[in-house]
Amino acid sequence: MDADLVVVGSGLFGLTVAQQCAERFGRRVVIIDRRSHIGGNAYSENEPETGIEVHRYGAHLFHTSNQRVWDYVNEFTKFTSYVHRVYTSHNGEVFPMPINLGTINQFFRAAYTPDEARALIREQAAELDGKEPANFVEKGVSLIGRPLYEAFIAHYTAKQWQTDPEKLSADIISRLPVRYTYDNRYFNDTYEGLPVDGYTAWLERMADHDRIEVKLETDFFDSSQPLNKDNVVGNVPVVFTGPVDRYFDYSEGRLGWRTLDFEEQVLPVGDFQGTPVMNYPDADVPYTRIHEFRHFHPERDYPKDKTVIMREFSRFAEGEDEPYYPVNTPADRDGLLRYRDRAKSEKGVLFGGRLGTYKYLDMHMAIGAALSMVDNKLEQHFTVGAAIQ
Ligand code: FDA
Repeated sequence: MDADLVVVGSGLFGLTVAQQCAERFGRRVVIIDRRSHIGGNAYSENEPETGIEVHRYGAHLFHTSNQRVWDYVNEFTKFTSYVHRVYTSHNGEVFPMPINLGTINQFFRAAYTPDEARALIREQAAELDGKEPANFVEKGVSLIGRPLYEAFIAHYTAKQWQTDPEKLSADIISRLPVRYTYDNRYFNDTYEGLPVDGYTAWLERMADHDRIEVKLETDFFDSSQPLNKDNVVGNVPVVFTGPVDRYFDYSEGRLGWRTLDFEEQVLPVGDFQGTPVMNYPDADVPYTRIHEFRHFHPERDYPKDKTVIMREFSRFAEGEDEPYYPVNTPADRDGLLRYRDRAKSEKGVLFGGRLGTYKYLDMHMAIGAALSMVDNKLEQHFTVGAAIQ
């Protein structure tokens, strides 16, 4: 076989590993992906009627405080000065998110100072009187008080999980950010922006290397294609970024995921909602949010009479649904520990990325984790011949 490394999955984790091994160690890398395009969930494409860039697997906003990751991604793309802000439409009124002094004053029809708002929320959050929260509702109330919890969190969470929050575990949330200023920047990171010529151009540049070959529509578990698990494992080192439970034939049970359904529409108006993301936290609206993609790139010359919106619906993944967010029940966590043990003893195979580790990873985290895997495991293998494990 004409490869020093096989990378399964062309998402940001797999692309980073492949690019680094080709560039730093002069190795030949084959990347395979079962999809018909590169880039995993960060992939985007232009909607054909309007030319507006649509993020196919949900809105992707790049942000990081990791200097190494920022320098690395800037080798492949420049970023716009886009700053992410989110609003939420509750009871026919629009509020800024995450909950900040503007949200609090609008909600309580008040003009509280930061200290007054802090005292109010502290008082409302004291409802539990120091009792350990027994479920998601109690945890939410203990963090931000009942009025804000009921308005902005309760039904939104019920829609995300399709489950009554009373039946959800308290440990789904450890904190609910409340800012006692009018700052409604969504992310706190040092760097933020969107790739100037789109995600796919960025992702393709990462794979554009003499020593990297990409094979699309190639499933690692399809025994009819040459680069399948049985042929490769044990013969060529593998970095596997697909689902860890699938790799082991679900022997320790299926790990639970939530998925999203997207409903895309081209509308004959220049601007539908005046902002990129509007959340819908009320029970009578079935979707969780609407994205309007033109607002991610105000600098682009998009049509003035058409726009693209995408409604997002959330539910538990079944069968062939795309796995998006780990559910992480106690049974999932037990299963994951057993898979991790099996992964450790799988010779010549490293597991990484969000599917390979059953962890929600932002893009900068996936890239950072891939760089660490290269430094800690693959460098020693390719420079001094250390075994991969
Ligand atoms: P990723 O899932 O991207 O890639 C895995 C690849 O493996 C896929 O291409 C898949 O086809 C392939 N594969 C799986 N099984 C295979 C098999 N058997 N054979 C061959 N190939 C196989 N992050 C952020 O920083 N800002 C944001 O705004 C968002 N927004 C966001 C929205 C939504 C809805 C989700 C689900 C995620 C985000 N993210 C995000 C996270 C971001 O998508 C994530 O960091 C990257 O996808 C991680 O890249 P990976 O390479 O780990 O996985």
